[in-house]
Amino acid sequence: MMEFLKTCVLRRNVCTAVCFWRSKFVQKSSVVRKISTTSPRSTVMPAWVIDKYGKNEVLRFTQNMMLPIIHYPNEVIVKVHAASVNPIDVNMRSGYGATALNMKRDPLHIKVKGEEFPLTLGRDVSGVVMECGLDVKYFKPGDEVSHKPRSLTHTQAASLPYVALTAWSAINKVGGLNDKNCTGKRVLILGASGGVGTFAIQVMKAWGAQVTAVCSQDASELVRKLGADDVIDYKYGNVEEQLKSLKPFDFILDNVGGSTETWALNFLKKWSGATYVTLVTPFLLNMDRLGIADGMLQTGVTVGSKALKHFWQGVHYRWAFFMASGPYLDEIADLVDAGKIQPVIEQTFPFSKVPEALLKVERGHARGKTVINVV
Ligand SMILES: NC(=O)c1ccc[n+]([C@@H]2O[C@H](COP(=O)([O-])OP(=O)(O)OC[C@H]3O[C@@H](n4cnc5c(N)ncnc54)[C@H](OP(=O)(O)O)[C@@H]3O)[C@@H](O)[C@H]2O)c1
Repeated sequence: MMEFLKTCVLRRNVCTAVCFWRSKFVQKSSVVRKISTTSPRSTVMPAWVIDKYGKNEVLRFTQNMMLPIIHYPNEVIVKVHAASVNPIDVNMRSGYGATALNMKRDPLHIKVKGEEFPLTLGRDVSGVVMECGLDVKYFKPGDEVSHKPRSLTHTQAASLPYVALTAWSAINKVGGLNDKNCTGKRVLILGASGGVGTFAIQVMKAWGAQVTAVCSQDASELVRKLGADDVIDYKYGNVEEQLKSLKPFDFILDNVGGSTETWALNFLKKWSGATYVTLVTPFLLNMDRLGIADGMLQTGVTVGSKALKHFWQGVHYRWAFFMASGPYLDEIADLVDAGKIQPVIEQTFPFSKVPEALLKVERGHARGKTVINVV
């Protein structure tokens, strides 16, 4: 979990926290904490928080954020060494997804609106386990969470979990591709130069696919170095015209969304199981606008009708979302240590410059990831 604070609590299957870690989920119990292995520690830590949603000015630095404690036996406390910023962190600063996330933080609706503040944003970290819940078997205090690729620094490792698990969800869970069935498959990646795209190119190449990357001209050298076989510059003329000269695709990963949906599916092979997966969906926005129940209903209707329309045209249309998975993070760590996937870091910032890091991500045009060094 990228947290703009010095430590965080992670719980498998319960929160969307991701990092290289794995532990077992069990039911709540009254005694939950293994004896702390740390020497008596301070009860507060520095953190970047927000007290209301808004533009970057809402970020506030505090030295006095309460240190987290273990509430459930499957939790670990991690001392964050590095954290990476994702577009969703910037969007959440502005209130995006607040309805759904407040429900997740407070399923019984005990808190009133606004009680989530002061709120610490973020989701991607690399760090060291400080303390484990009683049922945590996979980790012990002192582990570099976990188990991060041995060949990477914390800064490099923090750039991977969220984008890797999102790409894996889209490509494998939703798209059905894996290391056994991917050889020679023709894959098109829209938005190939960003965090998800730069990871997706590498995993698809590691699995033997033929990758076409769509990006801006200045990113073409980067995506070629990562393994892309063909590169299309979407700012140079019409993308559709350029794609017409290529053979149709088995799989499209769309990291851009919007108008891409109106033409991208035309470039899939028909009636052969070819699939278009988009990561850009109105799921959380619908809940923000319409509330939980109506928002989910609207989402179901939208995705259902689009999937049905494209099904009759011989292709599959799907939405994908980030999905937490310890075992898959272990697979990624193996691919990284084998030299098949490398972190792509565009810029790093010190902890004192968290607002600048968010601004950088907000400006867009990412070329890989933005990382904050916390320790
Ligand atoms: N559903 C989920 O659970 C989930 C999870 C993670 C991410 N996402 C979403 O997926 C998208 C990608 O995430 P990310 O982390 O990779 O974002 P990112 O790091 O900001 O990358 C986006 C990339 O797309 C490029 N781009 C913009 N317009 C383009 C176009 N028309 N054609 C080709 N490339 C274009 C940008 O560079 P240029 O503008 O310079 O071309 C940038 O390199 C975001 O919208 C994010 O919110 C969804």
